[in-house]
Amino acid sequence: MAGWLQGEVVERKRWTERLHSLRVDAPVDPFEPGQFNRLALALALDIDGERVGRPYSYVNPPSQTPLDFYFNTVPGGPLSNRLAALEPGDTVQLMSRPQGFFTLSELPDADVLWLIATGTAIGPYLSMLRTDTPWKRFKRVVLVHAVRTAEELTYGDVIGGFRDHGAQFSFVPFVSREAHPQALPGRVPAAMESGALERRVDLPLSPDAAQVMLCGNPDMVRDATEVLKAKGLRRNRRRTPGHITTEHYW
Ligand SMILES: Cc1cc2nc3c(=O)[nH]c(=O)nc-3n(C[C@H](O)[C@H](O)[C@H](O)COP(=O)(O)OP(=O)(O)OC[C@H]3O[C@@H](n4cnc5c(N)ncnc54)[C@H](O)[C@@H]3O)c2cc1C
Ligand SMILES: NC(=O)c1ccc[n+]([C@@H]2O[C@H](COP(=O)([O-])OP(=O)(O)OC[C@H]3O[C@@H](n4cnc5c(N)ncnc54)[C@H](OP(=O)(O)O)[C@@H]3O)[C@@H](O)[C@H]2O)c1
Repeated sequence: MAGWLQGEVVERKRWTERLHSLRVDAPVDPFEPGQFNRLALALALDIDGERVGRPYSYVNPPSQTPLDFYFNTVPGGPLSNRLAALEPGDTVQLMSRPQGFFTLSELPDADVLWLIATGTAIGPYLSMLRTDTPWKRFKRVVLVHAVRTAEELTYGDVIGGFRDHGAQFSFVPFVSREAHPQALPGRVPAAMESGALERRVDLPLSPDAAQVMLCGNPDMVRDATEVLKAKGLRRNRRRTPGHITTEHYW
C-alpha cells in the first residue's frame, strides 16, 4: 500500500504491565503536535490478510527524534499486544504522512487552554507543550491527566519540565481508584460539574475565557462535553468556531 515506510524501534519503555512507550526512528513527514501516525507490523494481518494498522498520536514534539508513541495494551487487541513485545532493532511500519486535526492551529484564541486526557491520551498534549506555541498564545495552560491508579501518572519528567513556565502552567492529576494526596478523586466531568476542577486552579471554565481540548476515553469526552455545554461552551468547528475540541481514542 502506498505511503507505508519502515521504522526501527530504538527503545521500548515499560511503565506498567499495560502501559508502554515505543521510540522509533523513521523518516516521516513533518507533523503538527496533536496529529497521529499509523503503526503496523508485517506479521499482524487481519482475517482477510490485510495489514492491521492503528492510529497513535505523536508524543515527541516535531523538533525531536526519535518518534515517541505511548500506548496501553488492550486485552485481545490484535496490534497493541504485538507492539508491546517489540525490542530495540525490530522494525515497525508507519505512514509517511501525518493525519488529524486535533491541533492548536484549529483553536480560536482564549486566555486559558485546558488540555484534558484520560490514560494514554496525554500524549498529544506532551507534544504540544514541548513547542513554544501554547506558551505564546495562552495566558494560562491547565493540563489534566485522569487515570485509575497513581502508577499510571507517567511522563513525570516531561511534565516537570513545564513547571519552568511558573504560574502560567498548572497540572491537575485525577486518580479515580485509589487515594492520592496530590490528585483530585473521581472523574473529570463530575469535578467540572461540582466546580472542584475550577477551584483547584482558580480559573473559570467559561466561554469567554476557555478553550478546552478533550482526548481519550470516548465516554469521558462525551460526558465532559455535556457538562461544558451546560456551562455555555460550544463545540469548536471550522465553520462555527467554539470552545470544545475533541478526539476519541476508541
Ligand atoms: C486518532 C487516534 C489516535 C490514537 N492514539 C493512540 C495513542 O496514542 N495511544 C493509544 O494507546 N491508543 C491510541 N489510539 C487507539 C489505538 O489506535 C488502538 O485502537 C489501540 O492501541 C488498540 O489496538 P489493538 O489493535 O490492540 O485493538 P483494536 O482492535 O484497535 O481495539 C479493540 C477494542 O479495544 C478498545 N480500545 C481501543 N483502543 C483503546 C485504548 N487506547 N484504550 C482502551 N481501549 C481501547 C476498543 O473498544 C476497541 O474496539 C488512537 C486511536 C485514534 C482513533
Ligand atoms: N487501568 C487498568 O488497570 C486496566 C487494567 C486492565 C484493563 N484495562 C482496560 O484498558 C482500557 C483503558 O484503561 P485506562 O485505565 O487506560 O483508561 P480508562 O478506563 O479510560 O480510565 C482512565 C480514567 O478515565 C476515567 N473514566 C472512565 N470512564 C469515564 C467517563 N465516562 N467519564 C469520565 N471519566 C471516565 C476513569 O475513571 P474510573 O476509574 O471511575 O472508571 C479513569 O480515571 C479500558 O478499556 C480498561 O478496561 C485497564
